[in-house]
Amino acid sequence: MAISPIDSLLVMPSPTHARSYQSAVAEGYAPDAAAPPLLVDGRFDAHLAWMNEQGGEVRQIDGRMVERAPHVQLWLVHAYTFIGRVNIRFRLTDDLRVWGGNIGYAIRPSFREKGFGRHILALALPVARESGLRGALLTCLSTNKASIRVIEANGGQLAETGPHPTLPEQTVRRYWIDLPV
Ligand SMILES: CC(C)(COP(=O)(O)OP(=O)(O)OC[C@H]1O[C@@H](n2cnc3c(N)ncnc32)[C@H](O)[C@@H]1OP(=O)(O)O)[C@@H](O)C(=O)NCCC(=O)NCCS
Repeated sequence: MAISPIDSLLVMPSPTHARSYQSAVAEGYAPDAAAPPLLVDGRFDAHLAWMNEQGGEVRQIDGRMVERAPHVQLWLVHAYTFIGRVNIRFRLTDDLRVWGGNIGYAIRPSFREKGFGRHILALALPVARESGLRGALLTCLSTNKASIRVIEANGGQLAETGPHPTLPEQTVRRYWIDLPV
């Protein structure tokens, strides 16, 4: 039976979904660019642990090391099936204000265009609000039609557009979503 978004929920990453996560990667799901390799000496632990480590620094696409904001990575799952991830950053750094924002997400390729993108952001917003955020910044490329639809369907208001920090040919759209008490 096909899984629908309403049957999926957010959980903390854990070995319970490791096998399904690895099959998502095999089908083209891209883990966080800064994450350690999927398997180190045949073990998944380092990759998994990295997702919710706090403090320290994280490598940017351009190679710079920048402060890692307080954050959580949650997985959208149904039973033992990994569907996607959402990263919620509870404080903005100067880099995140330009690119990244408070919330980022990705759905594994075989589950795209079925409403899971819209659903994962809808589930992440109350988590952000519970943390005390009263507004969430979301950024996406102007060419990312699916993400634009996901953000706008969740109440995103376009605040500005500007150049991407490392991709000179790309434009970034910055949206705010209100998180009233
Ligand atoms: C962006 C992403 C999360 C969307 O996930 P998804 O599960 O396909 O999204 P949904 O099924 O909820 O679709 C949301 C809307 O986008 C539209 N859409 C989905 N894929 C699309 C595409 N390739 N082109 C145009 N529109 C698209 C859907 O039709 C839907 O439109 P609607 O609101 O009018 O019904 C997914 O494509 C993805 O993981 N991409 C790679 C990572 C990424 O880009 N993350 C966002 C970074 S800002």
